[in-house]
Amino acid sequence: MDATADIAKAAAALKSGGLVILPTETVYGLAADAANPRAVAAVYEAKGRPSFNPLIAHVADITTARRIARFDDRAERLAAAFWPGPLTLVLPIADEAAVCDLARAGLDTVAVRAPGHPLAQALLKAFGGPLVAPSANRSGRPSPTTFADAMEETGASTAAALDGGPCAIGLESTVVALLDQPRLLRPGAVTRAEIEALIGPLSEAEADARRSPGRLTRHYAPNLPLRLNAEEPRGDEVWLGFGPRGGAGFNLSPDGDLTEAAANLFAYLRAADRSLGAAGIAVAPIPDTGLGEAINDRLRRAAGFVG
Ligand code: TXA
Ligand code: MG
Repeated sequence: MDATADIAKAAAALKSGGLVILPTETVYGLAADAANPRAVAAVYEAKGRPSFNPLIAHVADITTARRIARFDDRAERLAAAFWPGPLTLVLPIADEAAVCDLARAGLDTVAVRAPGHPLAQALLKAFGGPLVAPSANRSGRPSPTTFADAMEETGASTAAALDGGPCAIGLESTVVALLDQPRLLRPGAVTRAEIEALIGPLSEAEADARRSPGRLTRHYAPNLPLRLNAEEPRGDEVWLGFGPRGGAGFNLSPDGDLTEAAANLFAYLRAADRSLGAAGIAVAPIPDTGLGEAINDRLRRAAGFVG
């Protein structure tokens, strides 16, 4: 089947309440019609996700986003600068039917994002409305960044699946709440500095954890225990290096490039997790600047440190 036929088939599956594996520039998503509570329930079930964790409504463009969420001046500025792209805005809900209660976990706010991946854009345009698309992993597992990983996680629950190749960014979108003072709920590829340059200082997510229920649980976890900021692996550990240091095992970026490390993170965590006979994964220190803030956030969550 060619790409146009694939998109038409996926859009039809969504219209009849089915689920679709959706490539985005960040990670693979498990998409459903945001207005259809039965379809949204099927997403929660496929992920094994607690239903109090709200989903992101994906839209083709800012015009559609303005129909479902109340945009203020800060939201306009951020969307103009970073959409389509890896930024999610949490705003007051404007159309409660377009993104059903279950998708918002009963909140009076909605998370919206316009993804940049061409297949995501094509599907959103063909479908013609907002799609919820949580990362396509089962709850608590690393987000899939390849088509094969997405299929392995939740592919069995879907009516259609789009193969968009490996995800360019490899980490979930940055989530910013614009309800009162702006808050960084989840660091990501759009960095804190880039956002603050446009709308001023961001408060910490922790102070507002209640508003982002997904941040309360251990996340992105492989099965093996993780030891962070390790100087070198112990005898029974797999090594997940960064930069020139380190030896056998995996290296997120031998050149010490944070963008490359982000793109490799989840796939290498999965690969390290499959190492036979290993008792744990030792991870080299990653600088906490720029995209490093998001990488370290995901690593701390994978290691079970929640905050
Ligand atoms: O990059 C991404 O954002 C990927 C791709 C597929 O688009 N999607 C994704 O969705 O990561 P998900 O469901 O795995 O993560 C959504 C995050 C969760 O931490 C959730 O708690 C938060 O966004 N969230 C969603 N709606 C919210 C709301 N109304 N208020 C606060 N946080 C919200
Ligand atoms: Mg997720």
